[in-house]
Amino acid sequence: MKAIEIRNKYLNFFKNHGHKVIPSSRLIPENDPSVLFTTAGMQPLVPYLLGEKHPEGKRLTDYQKCLRTNDIDEVGDNRHLTYFEMLGNWSLGDYFKEESIAMSFEFLTKELGIPVEKLSVTCFAGDEDAPKDTTAAECWKKAGIPEERIYFYGKDDNWWIAGEEGPCGTDTEIFYDTGKPACSDNCGPACDCGKYVEIWNNVFLEYYKTKEGTYTQLKQRNVDTGLGLERMTMLLQGKQTPFDTELFAPVMEQLKKLAKEDRIESRRIVAEHMRASMMIILDGGRPSNIDRGYVLRKLIRRMARHLNKLQIDLSELSNLIELNVQTLKEMYPELEECKETIKQVIIEEKDKFMKTLAHGEKEFEKQIAKAKQENKNVIDGQTIFKLYETYGFPPEITADLAEEQGFKIDLSEFENLFKEHQQKSRMGSEQKFKGGLAEQNEKTIAYHTATHLLHKALQIVLGEHAKQSGSNITVERLRFDFSHPEKMTKEQLKQVEDIVNEQIARDLTVTCEEMTLEEAKDSGAMGLFENKYGEKVKVYTIGDFSKEICGGPHVTHTGELGHFRIKKEESSSAGVRRIKAVLEE
Ligand code: SER
Repeated sequence: MKAIEIRNKYLNFFKNHGHKVIPSSRLIPENDPSVLFTTAGMQPLVPYLLGEKHPEGKRLTDYQKCLRTNDIDEVGDNRHLTYFEMLGNWSLGDYFKEESIAMSFEFLTKELGIPVEKLSVTCFAGDEDAPKDTTAAECWKKAGIPEERIYFYGKDDNWWIAGEEGPCGTDTEIFYDTGKPACSDNCGPACDCGKYVEIWNNVFLEYYKTKEGTYTQLKQRNVDTGLGLERMTMLLQGKQTPFDTELFAPVMEQLKKLAKEDRIESRRIVAEHMRASMMIILDGGRPSNIDRGYVLRKLIRRMARHLNKLQIDLSELSNLIELNVQTLKEMYPELEECKETIKQVIIEEKDKFMKTLAHGEKEFEKQIAKAKQENKNVIDGQTIFKLYETYGFPPEITADLAEEQGFKIDLSEFENLFKEHQQKSRMGSEQKFKGGLAEQNEKTIAYHTATHLLHKALQIVLGEHAKQSGSNITVERLRFDFSHPEKMTKEQLKQVEDIVNEQIARDLTVTCEEMTLEEAKDSGAMGLFENKYGEKVKVYTIGDFSKEICGGPHVTHTGELGHFRIKKEESSSAGVRRIKAVLEE
């Protein structure tokens, strides 16, 4: 069965079970700088999981374009992907465990024809926050899974939350037995020997985890499920990797034909990163040196590096993208329309990269020669930093080149230097990273800081539910979307304006620290979701007033902002309000 057939079967099945098919949200969350990419089908649905009414009702289904970047460096093995498609169905306070499990079982065994013997499931074992999920287990038994293939695990395996704070709950995961022999007597779905492959996750979102770490009951009990399409396609086709399915095979074969080096990992990296880049560009992403743009830049540059390793002429890129569009257009017809832009963006970025490489490589060779002379086998952080700062050489490329020559690199020293560098440049009056890292100007930076003040002020006036769901900044105004069920009153708007202007008058200092997402949440920083690019996040603190996870940049003092005025408050979508505001001299 082809991927598109699985997708269509899924959507039809849930449609026939009373679900409305909703379109995939964009890979780049609409006007939301707090999340880099959509990482799960539930992400665009959070307001509705919290109780807002969805215009399409309480039963929804979709395919969602997702991108997860935490495993970007693992791509090349036989399973990791950055871009993938998640099929999902949701109950927003409608059905719960029994119906969800019965439908999943029916879909897998009847629609996809998977033999029951191939399926094992896991349920939550229980702890101080929530009891053992015997209900889910009973539902599985009733559906037809024998007791010996129902496993119980703790929070690490059978609890789902996006990030540290938000809707969460126990989950029950469905595993496919590949038929490989068990690796030991203890082998089970939690084992990563490869015998069991997770195919579907049914999450029962009934709690809310606060930033203090306590759990409260949500207004409604929801179901959120996610099924990875590429993986399911691979299993149903009896293939060993997603790269062997029709989603990648034509490009993989062409790469093999063109390559002068037989490097399977490089072929996978090229095919995967090309597809992911195409999907990001399709949804409006463009390469840059910050946040989303940096992820795209990294994907394209790694792809170009590996084409080099395969000794494939880079002039083949246009043909390879064309082939990829033809391969994927049945799934994403919109690719055809956008393909010239996609080619242009990728090829331009590749050209920039080639220039960077040419400049940096000479310096790199010098440093390698020097290290050899000194009998060292490690490239120190200073050198990596110099290559980065002066030649725009990304550290991962230095690592790659160094490794080819049998050298290790000291990334931790580089990271320290990088942090110092960021702090210094932030303190500089220009507010730009050296080397033109950030494509921002004074006005947009000011609006960015004003957005943080507005976000916090809204929470003070309306309550904690008034969370950001989107933001868009131009040199002329800020636009901010946030969850709130009703029109704001004149008094509330005035209060918000006054609070923001008060913070501007106090001329608060804006500071930035880097920390892990967990530390950020512990420090009480506002922000959404995990899967930021890289492990570390930046937290911007504005005096004693606001603390928020954000990519920056920001002004150094709020006094620089001018006078804040709200020009409009209107509805954005169901349960989401929109404010447009300006900063006046
Ligand atoms: N949110 C869950 C996941 O991403 C189920 O969709 O696995």
